Amino acid sequence: MDLPAEFLTLYSRLDRQGPGLSGDAIWALERLGLSGPLAVCDAGCGTGADCETLARALPRARIEGVEAVPAFVAAAQPRLADLPNATVRLGDMGALEGPYDLIWSAGAIYFLGVTEGLRAWREALAPGGAVAFSQGVLLSEDEPQAVRDFWAPEPEIITCEGVLDQVSDAGFEVIDSKLLIGAPWAAYYDSLSVQIAALRPGASAAMAEVLDGAEREIALWRQAPERIAYLLVLARPR
Ligand SMILES: C[S@@+](CC[C@H](N)C(=O)[O-])C[C@H]1O[C@@H](n2cnc3c(N)ncnc32)[C@H](O)[C@@H]1O
Repeated sequence: MDLPAEFLTLYSRLDRQGPGLSGDAIWALERLGLSGPLAVCDAGCGTGADCETLARALPRARIEGVEAVPAFVAAAQPRLADLPNATVRLGDMGALEGPYDLIWSAGAIYFLGVTEGLRAWREALAPGGAVAFSQGVLLSEDEPQAVRDFWAPEPEIITCEGVLDQVSDAGFEVIDSKLLIGAPWAAYYDSLSVQIAALRPGASAAMAEVLDGAEREIALWRQAPERIAYLLVLARPR
């Protein structure tokens, strides 16, 4: 993935690279009834926030983060250094080998496409294994312009029902799902705002452009925070 250095400087400083709270992963583990000496992959783990949560919640499990951006891998490694059951590696989440009892993926499957991603991951699941992923969704077919504007960079975004159909098309059964609205987004954009402010003084033109883009995204989210959503889906192969 070829990303500008200024973009990587900003986003590598973040605790995570998309909306989410540690409670989301804990909810998924509880709903899937997962504990013990499992093999878990965090696909598209960014700087490793969920690797950390999963490693603490599952002390007897082995957590492997897989991330395509070297700068994010480099930021994740020191934060996982005190967790002997967690590692992160540079790799392609579209080519996982496994076998994993759980493939967790927050805000990353859209890079592969939901159906394509699930089909690829199916081969990497251990018998009885599950996938948990979050994905941007529209709350209805007829969303206000503010919501359309927010999602403009991702024109393929569809409704919750559409995403659940894609899960089914990939040959998976939905175990449970829940919307992530409000707090996980506020936490993400609060941390992004802090880093924008830290990098703004003396920013180069290229950095200012990246910071301006991030500020525009935050402003768009603030226009409709109650309607901008991720759907967190738990699924197993049928
Ligand atoms: C929106 S970020 C979410 C990061 C992290 N899961 C989180 O919630 O903080 C999506 C991540 O997926 C990674 N990614 C995209 N395509 C990938 C691929 N083919 N293999 C591995 N990682 C990938 C991106 O580099 C990025 O770090």
